[in-house]
Amino acid sequence: MTDLEIRKQQAAHRAIEHVKSGMIVGLGTGSTARHAIAAIGQKLSRGELRNIKGVPTSAASKAQAVSLGIPIIELGPGGVDVAIDGMDEVTPELDAIKGLGGALTREKIVASHAKVFILIGDERKLVSYLGERSALPVEVIPFAWEATQFTLAGFAEALVPRKNECDKLFMTDNGNYIIDLTLGEQRDPQQLNCELSCTPGVVDHGLFLGMADLAYIAYENRVEELS
Ligand code: 5RP
Repeated sequence: MTDLEIRKQQAAHRAIEHVKSGMIVGLGTGSTARHAIAAIGQKLSRGELRNIKGVPTSAASKAQAVSLGIPIIELGPGGVDVAIDGMDEVTPELDAIKGLGGALTREKIVASHAKVFILIGDERKLVSYLGERSALPVEVIPFAWEATQFTLAGFAEALVPRKNECDKLFMTDNGNYIIDLTLGEQRDPQQLNCELSCTPGVVDHGLFLGMADLAYIAYENRVEELS
């Protein structure tokens, strides 16, 4: 495993200390969340955790969880006890950008129904303001997506429809497209949140403001908890 993967795993392992037997757990998406799902599967198989149910945020996370024997349920009105997910950027105040993995809409639904929402990542993800390094993904419905993109251009320095490895438009698990916005300068995230949420054609976007309770950031020799 590379040093970076070890860091991601260390952050994930700190987060799963919050998972106790009998809990319903939101299973995030991405290379860091994969470590958390793997660790939950391992604890279940060793009998260190019992009666866990997982709510996956993507088809990929569902497939991994099923392969590890983690029982899967749909998100119900009772929500999840804890949700653990990666992030693309997080500020010291725990505002985040998510969605470079394309699962932002399901991730936000699950996180918004979590008693405790924990972000995990390595030190590259810690930023002083949102948009400092990462693009902001916005999920849009395919109908008239170029018109929606035109509206979104008013909120960004640059933007690009996400493509897959075959150079076709990337499609989310929800059958939608993603437009990646380069913000270019420090923006008021609350205002941007409102603007994007009010744009017709936008399903959801990657701003996760005031949602996380904790973040574990892995450095070379330590994992820092932000709360
Ligand atoms: C997927 C996400 C991921 O959690 C985010 O992109 C971080 O991924 P990784 O852990 O691979 O860096 O939001 O939609």
